[in-house]
Amino acid sequence: MTMDLFDGLGGTGPREESLGAGARVLRGFALTQDAELLSAVHDVSLASPFRHMETPGGFRMSVAMTNCGAWGWVTDRTGYRYADVDPVQGRPWPEMPAVFLRLARMAAAKAGFDGFTPDACLVNRYEPGAKMSLHQDKDERDFTAPIVSVSLGLPAVFLFGGAERADSSARVRLSHGDVVVWGGPARLRYHGVMPLKPGHHPRVGGHRINLTFRKAQ
Ligand code: SIN
Ligand code: FE2
Repeated sequence: MTMDLFDGLGGTGPREESLGAGARVLRGFALTQDAELLSAVHDVSLASPFRHMETPGGFRMSVAMTNCGAWGWVTDRTGYRYADVDPVQGRPWPEMPAVFLRLARMAAAKAGFDGFTPDACLVNRYEPGAKMSLHQDKDERDFTAPIVSVSLGLPAVFLFGGAERADSSARVRLSHGDVVVWGGPARLRYHGVMPLKPGHHPRVGGHRINLTFRKAQ
């Protein structure tokens, strides 16, 4: 009766979708570990709380962020960069939880990127209305490693564009447990997230969490 949830032949659609060369959506890939992931997010946020960072242009980001792993992505009036110290807490970011690392490696391998070893995990928290404008992930030192992006909680519309900002974007609905991987020829594709619609997720509540794994250094 529940087979169609897993074999990709039923009403839930395919479990893997291509977004072009080097980019894939792995539907439900994180589902079996959602409780562990959420409890690890909670632990990370106790050590390095979510905060709304400021863009170099002086705008407050609508997405609240924290990080774990050796390197954390930060922005302030001086620019975007990776920092090995949480500027709010004045100490290193919390270690990357083992469950994070395991999931990121498995998802990367599943999408064709073996040997992914992220040293940075950006944790994004979207409240209703929060959004992420189209951007490229290009603050990393080399672009040979892919990006692994995990969605938890409320669904969102992910925009996946091309190599140029003006290229049209695919609109991809991402739900709790979905993982997107992009690398190789897709590594620098523009992407973003539409304003989050209000709702209630039984496990997460009224927001969305995104984990973005990268090799920063
Ligand atoms: C990001 O690009 O940093 C976030 C993507 C997402 O929230 O799905
Ligand atoms: Fe990004």
